Parts: sequence; structure tokens; C-alpha cells
Amino acid sequence: MNVFGVDIGGSGIKGAPVDLERGALAEERHKVLTPQPATPDGVAGCVAEVVAHFGWTGPVGVTFPGVVTGSTVRTAANVDKSWIGVDAGALIGDRIGGLPVTVLNDADAAGVAEMTFGAGRGRKGTVILLTLGTGIGSAVFVDGRLVPNTELGHLELKGHDAETRASTRAKEDEDLSWEHWAKKRLNKYLAHVEMLFSPELFIIGGGVSRKADRFLPLIEGIRAKIVPAELQNNAGIVGAGMAAAQTV
Ligand code: BGC
Repeated sequence: MNVFGVDIGGSGIKGAPVDLERGALAEERHKVLTPQPATPDGVAGCVAEVVAHFGWTGPVGVTFPGVVTGSTVRTAANVDKSWIGVDAGALIGDRIGGLPVTVLNDADAAGVAEMTFGAGRGRKGTVILLTLGTGIGSAVFVDGRLVPNTELGHLELKGHDAETRASTRAKEDEDLSWEHWAKKRLNKYLAHVEMLFSPELFIIGGGVSRKADRFLPLIEGIRAKIVPAELQNNAGIVGAGMAAAQTV
């Protein structure tokens, strides 16, 4: 079966039909730039554009970079604050002619895809996927079941919101070397998360996972195994499609 997934990110909104058997995109994805400011109306219009590009008429899964309960947005750390309290499912559904819409947190979507088709396949115990990018997203699994909206990117680290120290945006904004970022920022963050949850496995996602060889070998003193995500850029779209399929 094919479903449709859309990934709402801080810089781009991308989507494609998803092949659920292979856990891969069924067609090349279509991407539009995220409007700035990323208001509900502007973003919903872009989602509609991506869906229309494929002439899609079935269920649609959508990721959002914040806490989502039901289909209502509860937090918006890196998108316009006017999202808070908006029923994203209803808003987007209206724009795409009433097609069924499922909305979930972006890291949760990526995690679900990785646990089924990627680095977490068949893994039991506690597994934590962390997406490192503009912010830090988290998806926590216990024996393959997701605990949604864990928001571990906002743990406090030395008096700071952790994502402002250990995300790849922090690395870029502060012009940190791989070594400085890996040892002084990411390592400390992982140690803190490990202290709280004692996971068996960390999966590192986000664009930076492509460069895992630059920083994972520098990480020390973490008991859990640490591996890069396998689905990389498409994990969010695939996970969104999987979530949509559950509503059919
Ligand atoms: C948000 C999370 C999101 C993460 C990655 C954080 O700032 O609070 O909900 O998963 O960024 O986009």
C-alpha cells in the first residue's frame, strides 16, 4: 500500500508518496521552502502545494517540529509561536479538500521509521533516537513501542536548554570544530540522557548523521551503543506515511 508523508521542517516542507512495504519513497520527493515567518496559514498552504504536486487523494501523514497531542500543536520552539493551540490536522485537512490527516512530532515520525526499516529494526529494550539539526528532537522506544512527545532536546544542560548547546545549529552558529562540539557538547548531552534513561541504543538522526564518522568516534564513556540513522533525510516522510496508514 502507498500512503503520503509530509515533513515540515524549519527550512523546507517536503513530501512524497511512501511505499510501506519497502519503507521508502515511492516517487522522488517534492520540496518547497518553508515560509518565513512559518505561520499556520503559510505552512498549511505549502503542505497543500506538496500534496497537489502529486495529485494525491488518499490519507496524509504530516510531521511537526513540536509537541502534538491528537492533531493539536502544543509547543513551537523553532517555528512561529502562533502554531500553539492550532489543530494542525483540521487546518491542513481543510486545505487539501478534506483528505484524512494525521499529525505527529517530527522526531517521533523519524523514530518510528528507523525502528521499522532502519537502525532500530528488531531492537528490544529502551532505544532513543535523537535528531540533531536546528533543534534536537527525540523519540523514545521501549520494546519497539513509542513514548510520544518526549522532547529530550529541551533537557537542561549546565543551566541551558540542551538544544541550544548540542544541536548542529549551535555548532554552526558558534563555529565549533567537530572535536569541540562532539566532546564538549554532544558527549555531555548523551551522558545526561544516558543517566536518565539507560538506553541500550542511541540512534543519531538529522542531516549530520551522514557525517557520523566525523564525530561518533570522538564520543567516550557512553555505555549504550551509538549508531547513525539509516533512513537519513527521508525518515520523517516515511514515518509520517506510516502514521497515516494506521488511520486507514
Ligand atoms: C522541538 C521538538 C522537535 C525538535 C526537532 C525541538 O525544538 O521542541 O518537538 O522534535 O526541535 O525538530
